[in-house]
Amino acid sequence: MFLNEKRNINLNGAILLFFYFFCAVFATIQLNPIGTTQSSNAVPCNTRPSSDNGANALVEQMRDRPPNAYCVQIESCTKLITQKPTFQKYETRPFSVGGFNWTFILEPFGNKTSYGDWISAYVAIDPLGLVGETREVYAALSFLVYSKTLDQYWTSMDTEVRRFHQFRTTWGNPTFVQHGDFQSPNREYIFNNDQCVFGVDINVYPYFNKWEVLSTDKTVHEPNSWKLMRFSTLDKDFYTSDEFSVGGKRWALKVYPNGNGTGEGNSLSLYVILSGNTNLKPYEKVYVQAKLRVLDQKQSKHLEKPILSWFDTPGDGSGFEQFVSLSGLRNPARGFVVDDALSVQVQFESLSSTNFYSSNDAQSMSTF
Ligand SMILES: *[C@@H]1O[C@H](CO)[C@@H](O)[C@H](O)[C@H]1NC(C)=O
Ligand SMILES: *[C@@H]1O[C@H](CO)[C@@H](O)[C@H](O)[C@H]1NC(C)=O
Ligand SMILES: *[C@@H]1O[C@H](CO)[C@@H](O)[C@H](O)[C@H]1NC(C)=O
Repeated sequence: MFLNEKRNINLNGAILLFFYFFCAVFATIQLNPIGTTQSSNAVPCNTRPSSDNGANALVEQMRDRPPNAYCVQIESCTKLITQKPTFQKYETRPFSVGGFNWTFILEPFGNKTSYGDWISAYVAIDPLGLVGETREVYAALSFLVYSKTLDQYWTSMDTEVRRFHQFRTTWGNPTFVQHGDFQSPNREYIFNNDQCVFGVDINVYPYFNKWEVLSTDKTVHEPNSWKLMRFSTLDKDFYTSDEFSVGGKRWALKVYPNGNGTGEGNSLSLYVILSGNTNLKPYEKVYVQAKLRVLDQKQSKHLEKPILSWFDTPGDGSGFEQFVSLSGLRNPARGFVVDDALSVQVQFESLSSTNFYSSNDAQSMSTF
């Protein structure tokens, strides 16, 4: 009972000290030239007015989940860890995480502050793996030490994802855990005949190796026109123009002389169609901004309607079921049907194209 209370007090005290300390330390490390613009509601550093730059690089907590990358159990822990002079640096054998080789490093007297001595914990990446496409690696790190009394791990989690490269192969926490915790009477982290257990989480964030570039060509293209002769004699549901090529894709115009859908029997329907034979890449979508027109062959007062559409399936169309009413089409004041010919048109104003890349493709990599 008494022991439990004492332990809790110690632990809370330790957590407070940790926060207090890291807020101070990281405030100075992450010298932030525009830090004054940061608000002071950052947690947990807002308890310290002098370190309100929000640089909370560490979250510290107890957790159940064991380390995901490596674990070191040390016997005769007291001697090795807490009695000076001991070994200055313990580095594990290499282990593999995320396709890279790493080591876990413990420095029993790695750092000293006014609170006393600290055990430092680091990971080092094998720089032999840092070449070519993987010349830099991003990883999130947590360092853990097992508490027998709580059956949990004291965890110091770095909230910054760290960047490892040829010139920076080691990251870690110089003030991971305080010696005081190892020497306290209830021996928080030393158990079963002088054992202790340290561990590390390494979460590697893979660098993307595939990407796509969507570009939009804002060239206003020459209009593509199509003249339907002997219009009054056309008796099929629809007519499709010859194909034409714009923006690297094949297109056609499609006319329903007697209307389609809601236009049936009352309007002319007009569409632009992405040709069924076009060379759309898998997963490619084409953004199109265009004008559809029925030409006024007398006064050039063309009837024009804009379309704004994504095409992702060859054969798809975009247009209007009711482009112009059948009576409006035959209005003698306009020149839509002249000498029994109808003229329709599409003018592309903007078209997208997508290029897909992967880093296996050395050439595209070099142009990226
Ligand atoms: C202790 O750690 C702090 C950062 O946490 C660092 O600035 C300082 O140089 C370290 N001291 C030693 C002796 O390693
Ligand atoms: C990891 O280490 C093994 C064994 O030494 C080696 O064969 C492998 O190439 C290394 N991999 C990387 C990415 O460094
Ligand atoms: C014609 O109308 C039908 C039914 O409304 C529709 O499914 C079809 O897509 C229309 N034709 C075109 C070319 O849009």
